[in-house]
Amino acid sequence: MALVPMRILLDHAAEHGYGVGAFNVNNMEQIQAIMAAADKTASPVIIQASRGARSYAQDNYLRHLMLAAVELYPHVPVAMHQDHGSSPDVCFSAIEQGFTSCMMDGSLLEDAKTPAPYSYNVEVTRKVVEHAHKRGVTVEGEIGTLGGIEDGHGAGLTGAEAMAHLTDPEQAAQFVAETGVDALAVAIGTSHGAYKFKHKPTGEVLKMSIIAEIHRRLPNCHMVMHGSSSVPKELVDIINQYGGQIPETYGVPVEEIQEGIKNGVRKINVDTDNRLAITGAIRKVFATKPGEFDPRGYMKPAREAMQKVVEERMIAFGQAGHAGQIPKVSLEEMARRYAKLK
Ligand code: G3H
Ligand code: 13P
Ligand code: ZN
Repeated sequence: MALVPMRILLDHAAEHGYGVGAFNVNNMEQIQAIMAAADKTASPVIIQASRGARSYAQDNYLRHLMLAAVELYPHVPVAMHQDHGSSPDVCFSAIEQGFTSCMMDGSLLEDAKTPAPYSYNVEVTRKVVEHAHKRGVTVEGEIGTLGGIEDGHGAGLTGAEAMAHLTDPEQAAQFVAETGVDALAVAIGTSHGAYKFKHKPTGEVLKMSIIAEIHRRLPNCHMVMHGSSSVPKELVDIINQYGGQIPETYGVPVEEIQEGIKNGVRKINVDTDNRLAITGAIRKVFATKPGEFDPRGYMKPAREAMQKVVEERMIAFGQAGHAGQIPKVSLEEMARRYAKLK
């Protein structure tokens, strides 16, 4: 099957009450791990690349790796998504490269650090929606600003400042109406990376109530949870057992994500958990087999460790078993549907 518009996956997920994991990739092994997990669990899947990933892997390599993925697994519906596009141009170039979905993150200015005014966010997001929908491509926007900072992306907000930038449900409703986005990323107190919370999060710091309120106001809105890694202790322990130094830290419990899915969350972004799994597996080989120098000797266990995490998330989010039910809709057909709606 060719790559599908992400909107088709999210609509199906909403209709059947499940969520779809969106897993970040930077290289061949990560794409292979996700596709093997999707194949094993019969899951539709979203594969996403950040600006940093596109620059690391190079667009041409990435495009051909994705083509290989859909060629090898024709029964798995796959959407390819630009994660955190920092300007309309980043989204336009992703669309040119064959991505079937893009995120215009206008919650931050083009530097991907400074919280942006609402009017700026609406302007850039609307511009991307106009361009993308003509081509059948899905658009995710973001309202509110995520805390923390990861590899240069994020406002670096913590404490009271981060709380002040959580999503306001009323503004979210206005934003969806003014931009026509297909999916809406919300800020509920999570952040990117491994260091989200110092204790297991309570309702004080992880505001699931915002999701419930947006769902009440906009029952048809597909919400996106960023920073959704659970940072499992077992994965952190493996890294530390083999020479790593990761202090005690907590992520978003899977049960909270499942609660979000009951309240309209359809896309769940996970990167850090896979990074932890890969790093732990590689450290283990280096520590236990110091004579190993064939990269396959450590990349294969790394790939298997990531596959396991992805499979677990696919089952927990409820996307497992749905691969065969996704309607086959091309970008051209999707463009015609958007034109009709307009
Ligand atoms: O947005 C955060 C994702 O984990 C991607 O991170 O910008 O380091 O590729 P990255
Ligand atoms: P994590 O760092 O929690 O995996 O979040 C990833 C993400 O939100 C990518 O956009
Ligand atoms: Zn994110």
